[in-house]
Formats: sequence, structure tokens, C-alpha cells
Amino acid sequence: MAINSAGLQPGRGAGKENMQSHATLVPEIAALLSAIQLRCVECSALYPPVEAQSSSATGLVPRYRCECGGVLDVELEFTLPKQVGMQGDEESWHLMERASNASAVGALWRQVFDERASSPPIWSISTDKLLLDYSGVWRYRELILPAPERYVITRPEGNTNLYPVGMENCPVGRIGHRQIGTYAGLELFFLKHEGENPSGSFKDRGMTAGITMANMLGASAVACASTGNTSASLAAYAAQAGMRSIVFLPAGNVAAGKLAQTMAYGATTVQIEGDFDAAMQLVEQVCNELGIYLLNSLNPFRVEGQKAIGFELLQQLDWQAPDWLILPAGNLGNISAIGKAFRQAYDLSLITQIPRIAAIQAAGANPFYQSYQQQFQKRVSVKADTVASAIKIGNPVSYARARAVIEACDGIVAQVTDEEILAAKEIIDRSGIGCEPASAATLAGAHKLVAEGVIKRDERVVGILTGNLLKDNVTGIPQQRNSAVVKPNLDAVRAMLAQ
Ligand code: F0G
Repeated sequence: MAINSAGLQPGRGAGKENMQSHATLVPEIAALLSAIQLRCVECSALYPPVEAQSSSATGLVPRYRCECGGVLDVELEFTLPKQVGMQGDEESWHLMERASNASAVGALWRQVFDERASSPPIWSISTDKLLLDYSGVWRYRELILPAPERYVITRPEGNTNLYPVGMENCPVGRIGHRQIGTYAGLELFFLKHEGENPSGSFKDRGMTAGITMANMLGASAVACASTGNTSASLAAYAAQAGMRSIVFLPAGNVAAGKLAQTMAYGATTVQIEGDFDAAMQLVEQVCNELGIYLLNSLNPFRVEGQKAIGFELLQQLDWQAPDWLILPAGNLGNISAIGKAFRQAYDLSLITQIPRIAAIQAAGANPFYQSYQQQFQKRVSVKADTVASAIKIGNPVSYARARAVIEACDGIVAQVTDEEILAAKEIIDRSGIGCEPASAATLAGAHKLVAEGVIKRDERVVGILTGNLLKDNVTGIPQQRNSAVVKPNLDAVRAMLAQ
């Protein structure tokens, strides 16, 4: 399939091949798009998500940035679905929804999500209607993207484990996991393993939302720049949706597992002589020029999907918000998404307190940390260098979104060295849970912040593990130790075990 300006084919999803303008999108998609506004995070200007443009070959132009250059944030009014709780006509439902008793509304939302989460994990394929409820993203669809069901592209994703690993909350059957809590110095510590998503990282949550939007717009080609996980996720979802995927990677700086996945799923892989930041600049240019749908977190619908990490972990905690959320920070899309989810969950009275967020950067890739150190008075960019290739990013795209989150939740930004990351990774790996290097920044950060007294040892803390151990099977994994080759006899084994 050639790349040309037909990357976006309006109406393809609707089966009307020659539809040429926004005005002629199928009504249910047009209605959804008209209910969504994109607000500039820098100057608050408002835009529709796609604009009709007669000069474009396809008639449809999606918007990723404000005229001022700022990134955009989805705004959407949430509508409580009618199927649960109080019976009654439409009018009384809306009255209920707008009730001044906010906590009653929060209880209704919780009921919606809890009922959906109780669908069985295994079901007959003939009852596929459970698929959306079972997805750890689409379960929260009213808060993410209320897309018409038949356009949703889902594996499904999410439903990742929340492991209790603290010194106090780690049960006997998880004795090996307790060393994580001991290392962090935390009594009530949970790790949410986003590496358990279909393509092995949290990126699948944003990707299912982004690719669904691509599908609704009739895109035939999608693209991203990546340090490896976004590209693997994009390639998997594009393959599922029958779209072409094109990924821009910093040559020599992508872990082998991620590169292998991306290629196996059939992406066109463009390795550039340059770092992630250069790849990011290039892909934006390419997408704008060639009409390919951009699926980096610059795309605001990716951020919406990633909010589901926040909703899901709150639901797993019975809607009792933790005191802290700790996560690794690179391009800053994830912190933007989870921070937004917490704020929205609070506004809907799903929770009664907003967790503080601790964003952890690698010391060699710490532009956000440096800016935080200067009270965010200026944006900083660096030439990034860290062993955690996933977060080797010097000029994060979602800086303004993430800054707003840290300021609003009284959050903090910390940095950890590569040595600290690898030490933490060894603890997580040896506990039997395992993660890729960037994810271990979470535990390294917890260890440091508890030691400094910033996080108290009895506070309830959730840490995010962002990627699977198998993504990078070299960095921080002992290649020699425990893998001696011995003769196939008892004496040889005895001698080896005695060492
Ligand atoms: N952890 C992992 C495993 C990642 O892959 C990334 C980002 C992050 C943390 C940081 O998240 O960018 O939202 O702040 N990976 C991107 C990629 C850049 O291309 O896969 P962020």
C-alpha cells in the first residue's frame, strides 16, 4: 500500500468510500465529534477534533496542536448511562444525574463500573457484547470516548494486576513480593503491572482509544515516533484494524524485544539517525504533510485512553484513593493521563481525595525534573542518556499537561541514577514480578522518596510498572550468573549447586 495523501479516508468505517468532508461523516460519528472539543493547554483556545478543509485531498484534517503550538486536551461532557440504578423516564434520570447530592451521583457511576467489572473473564465468543465491559479501557467508555460500539478496536486490554507488595499488606502467599515493600520502606504498597497488557506495556490503553478514533475517521495509515513500546502497540492495533503502520525509531536505541514485536506485527520501520526527540519532530511533520493519522501522545485521544490506568487502579482499591501514585516519566503522556483521570474521578465523586503524584525521571534524561527544580519557571530540554531506553527523552511533548498535573495535585518530580534504576529492577525481577528498566524507576523513586521522608512509610502508595520484563532481555539481567552448563549427571549437578 503506497503512502499518499489518502492516509485519511473519511467515511471508510461507514462503508461509504467516497465521502469527502466532515459534514458527510456518518451521523453517529459526526455527533460524537461535535460533542468533543480540544482545549489548548497553553492558551485555552478551543478547536473541534477534526476540521473540514476543501484544500485537503480527503476533506478532513485532524488537529494535534493549537495555533500557538500548545498541546491539546479533550473536553467532553460525561453522561451517566441509563441501564443501572434508578428506573424511570429520561427526565427523572437527568434530574438524578444533575442531583446536588454529588456523592449519590458518584455512587451511581461506581455502580456502572462495578457491574461491568463483574462480567466473567472468560465467555463464549457468541456473547461478544461483553467485550467492551471486560476491557479495562472501554469499561470506562463514558469518561474516555463514547464511541459507537461497532467502531471500537479492542483486544481487550487492561485488567492488569495490582500486586500488594508492602511490608504490611503483602500476604503470606506472596512472601517473595514483600522484598519490594521492604526495599521501598513502605507498609502499604501496591504495584500495578501495566506490562501485563496485550503488547506488554501501558501503551495499549491509549492505543485502543487512538486507533478507534483513526477507525472512525476512516484512516488507512497510522504513525508514531517511539522508544519502542508505542511502536509495538501501534503496530499490533493497526494490524488488528487492517491499517498500515509506520514507526520512526531512534536507530540503535530500541530494546530488541520491542523492535522484534514492531516488525513482527508488520509495521514499516523507519530507523532514523537521531534520538527520540528528533524522531518525534519528524513524525509530526510527516503526518501533517502526508495525511497519515498521528498516534503519539501528542494525539489527545491517546491520553484519554491512558486515563483508564487511573480509573482501574481506583476501582481495584474499592474507590479508596491512595495517598501517592509513583510512575516513571519520559514523554510525560502517562502522568498527564493519570493526573487527569484522578481529577475527573474526584469531580464525579468517584473518590474523595486526589492522590499526589511523584514523577520519576532518569538522571540522564531529566528535563522535567530540572524544570520542576526551578518552580517550572522555564521549560528545559536536554540531550538524553540513560540505560532505561524507554525514557531516554530530552524534550517531552506533554510538558505543559504534566506540569499542570504536578501543580494541581501537589505532586513532585524526582530523579534517580541508572545505578538506582538497575538496583530496583533487580529487586522487582528477583521477587518474581519483573519489569523492564524504565519501569524500575518507580521503585527506585519510592526507595529514595521514603528515605528522604517525602513519602511516609505508612502512607498508601501505588506504583506503576509500565513495561514487561521481556521487552528488554539484556539490560540489568544477569547473563552469566545461574546459567552454567553442566554434564548431564547427578554429580555434576551436586557440584554446581554446592558452589
Ligand atoms: N515506561 C515505559 C516502559 C515506556 O515505554 C515509556 C514511554 C515510559 C515509561 C514513559 O511514559 O512517555 O508517557 O512519560 N515510552 C514511549 C514509547 C516514549 O515510545 O514507547 P511517558
